[in-house]
Amino acid sequence: MRIDSVLLNDWHPVAETKDLKKQNPLPVRLLGEDLVIWEQDGTFMVWADLCIHRGTKLSLGWLEEGCLVCPYHGWHYDDSGQCVKIPAHPEQKPPEKAKAKVYKTQIKYGLIWVTQGEPEQDVPLFEEWEDESYRNIPSGPYYFNAAAPRMIENFLDVAHFPFVHEGSLGDRGHPEIGNYEAVISDDGVVADGIEIWQPNPDGTGVGSKVTYTYKVFRPFTAYFVKTKGPSFAAMYAVCPIDEQHSKGWVLMSMNYGAETPEKEIIDFQDKVTGEDIPMVESQRPELLPLDLQDELHLRSDRTAIAYRKYLRRMGVTFGTA
Ligand code: FES
Ligand SMILES: [Fe+2]
Repeated sequence: MRIDSVLLNDWHPVAETKDLKKQNPLPVRLLGEDLVIWEQDGTFMVWADLCIHRGTKLSLGWLEEGCLVCPYHGWHYDDSGQCVKIPAHPEQKPPEKAKAKVYKTQIKYGLIWVTQGEPEQDVPLFEEWEDESYRNIPSGPYYFNAAAPRMIENFLDVAHFPFVHEGSLGDRGHPEIGNYEAVISDDGVVADGIEIWQPNPDGTGVGSKVTYTYKVFRPFTAYFVKTKGPSFAAMYAVCPIDEQHSKGWVLMSMNYGAETPEKEIIDFQDKVTGEDIPMVESQRPELLPLDLQDELHLRSDRTAIAYRKYLRRMGVTFGTA
């Protein structure tokens, strides 16, 4: 399938840096392409997972002499992707063409971000994560048998809180959503002043109305912050594995609750996302309809409407219908 240029020229999270401690080289999949990640002295290489000799997966190989070695005939690829040794012909200098397909990569928020193209923009800035006064808690990856746009739209949807996350993020006795606006630009979507009742917004056990700002930074990277009272922000970084499969990390950053153990916060997020998965996986059509004539939209869906319009404006067809 042809992949949209906006997605090829974007950064996508594919793994956590710590994953390489457990498995090196590590196979991942992005936008339907198999990739191999390998790490050497803290530098991460991300390549097409394919040996140019006979198309074997390099991720089945191993590291030796500072190289990634193909498991089939032992070709050695150095960290620039160049094949520097062909064991069957030790006297011969490998041809220039014997090179892996190397992708640009960078590390941000503990994740390895990759691009298959030439992005003009950087990985989105997560301000709170970079702020020393905040505590950062990564969670995920959460695997969904669903298209990435469906996952992002679920993240942007607050009206499901009282039903899917009753008792934690919402309360069925208070399902109303206040009026708000969502603004679209080439920089994404900003939806400000979204009010909803929560039974325990800041861990004190007292229910109150909270106000959220949601932002869409890129087609598959979104964010929210609670704008009143103690500050809690989260970035949702979704990796589009292929049109039917995705995985997402919820990166949380907060300036209160220092005494709450990290495990408790991650367990909470695991539970919340675990409640979302069956909702999103059940949605039909599987691909997000961008024609606003499809499905029904309410005032409380303004962020979702803006997201669908933004995807259309960016020319995203992957994961959409
Ligand atoms: S297929 Fe990789 S060395 Fe032959
Ligand atoms: Fe949810």
